[in-house]
Amino acid sequence: MDKIIILDFGGQYTHLIARRVRDLGVYSEIFPFDIEIEKLKKKNPKGIILSGGPNSVYDVNSPKLSDSFFQYTITEKIPVLGICYGFHLIIYQLGGNIEAHHHKEYGITELDISTNLSNLLKGLNKSETVWMSHGDQVIEMPNDFQIIASTKTSPNAAYKNDNKLLYGVQFHPEVKHTPKGDLILNNFISDIAGAKKEWKLENWIGQAIEDIRTIIGQKNKVILGLSGGVDSSVTAILLHKAIGERLHCIFVNNGLLRKNEEIEVKKTFKEKLGFKNFHYIDAERIFLEKLENIKDPEEKRKIIGHEFINVFEKKTFELEEKYPDIEYLAQGTIYPDRVETATTSKSAAKIKSHHNLTLPEDMKLIIIEPLKDLYKDEVRRIGLQLGLPKEIINRHPFPGPGLAVRIIGAINKERLNILRDADSILIEEIKKAGIYDDLWQAFCVFLPLKTVGIMGDFRTYEFLCAIRIVESMDAMTANFAKLNWDLLEKISSRIINEVKGINRVVYDISNKPPSTIEFE
Ligand code: XMP
Repeated sequence: MDKIIILDFGGQYTHLIARRVRDLGVYSEIFPFDIEIEKLKKKNPKGIILSGGPNSVYDVNSPKLSDSFFQYTITEKIPVLGICYGFHLIIYQLGGNIEAHHHKEYGITELDISTNLSNLLKGLNKSETVWMSHGDQVIEMPNDFQIIASTKTSPNAAYKNDNKLLYGVQFHPEVKHTPKGDLILNNFISDIAGAKKEWKLENWIGQAIEDIRTIIGQKNKVILGLSGGVDSSVTAILLHKAIGERLHCIFVNNGLLRKNEEIEVKKTFKEKLGFKNFHYIDAERIFLEKLENIKDPEEKRKIIGHEFINVFEKKTFELEEKYPDIEYLAQGTIYPDRVETATTSKSAAKIKSHHNLTLPEDMKLIIIEPLKDLYKDEVRRIGLQLGLPKEIINRHPFPGPGLAVRIIGAINKERLNILRDADSILIEEIKKAGIYDDLWQAFCVFLPLKTVGIMGDFRTYEFLCAIRIVESMDAMTANFAKLNWDLLEKISSRIINEVKGINRVVYDISNKPPSTIEFE
């Protein structure tokens, strides 16, 4: 299949470039900017896109391409498109001049397209809106480069070199603030690189099922930890289509789930979808015992991760005794979970330790990750096509440690039940208002602080509940949702009136960064 490779220089939009290219029908993959040239050649790209990045080309240690990179692309006639930092880098490395510009250009800008001779900007009007975010400017280009667009502050905002097949745009075609961005990317991948549009999810499903059958064979069996989240659910349904009852799903109720979650997951997979080997484990007591009096968030995560593996491992051994053909462990890993991107990215730093299932040494199962090349929205579309209910597909992300990180400080059953009741009211009202699918996450947090209130003729002294609702693209950054006051009032009144133990509700108005989405 034809593919476009994106080289990552640490830009915040690198994944977005890859998703846009895929949405246009061409398979794309991201690699770090310093990928070995031999490895790059083996990937056989039809075209290469250089991402943006936080550096200036003049910074000491700023990421650079090797000379052999340009030798390869020019001699093999592989078109290269530089975006923002990539735009500067091509010029800088081929002998042009870049200057730190005193007027930083940031935000929506008018682009003047100076020539209609360029394939890259074909189909655009003489003037178009684009999204800029840069400090440096190209002031002198090497021979045979030609300016094809400018803005008020950047005389050179796009260039081409048809001989060497090098192209660049100072602005970001991948963001939605550049309305004709898709057209520009499409011009590059189709007209210039000639990549065939072979990336279709319908084809993917058929191929994936065939591949799974080939890998697993006629009699082997597969174990999957099913959480009820989108990724593990889509992995489950895909495997179920491929190997039917030879899939064994293990669902662990760790006592930290949302209200009725275990009942709903069981109902969906066992009853609606007819999974025969759905193994439900009630481990609430063990988890709550281990978490008793634990206040530190990282300690909670560690205990939960560890205990999960214990429970999962025990069940797996039990199943292996009964079914000796269990050879594989499936995981719902998706592309952004595993892609190795540039370490120059400031946002790449891990702030919290998210626990993913890692295989204990003595578990001799082979890992299978059928969704490992897909983005979340692709996973969702596949899930829908395979018949997963919409409620599962569109469900907000839920952290592995569950409600444990939504109860500040110590966890106990009483607090968990209070939180579950408040949270289910919030979700019910958000769904009724028809805004659930527009929000990244909406949830309640239990704050172990008591404040005074009055109910009827009585003074109350009860706990505080915080509501956290955010909008986001990928959870790297998030804004608190500016919800309608009447809706907030309704949610707050219902929680205070209906949930015993809470007499005050507050709304979190912090963005990420500097705050995080979860409270712990
Ligand atoms: P933060 O709180 O870091 O959250 O802004 C970003 C996204 O990650 C989710 N999250 C977790 N997911 N294990 C998980 O599987 C965790 O420990 C964890 N902590 C946060 C969070 O819900 C949000 O979507």
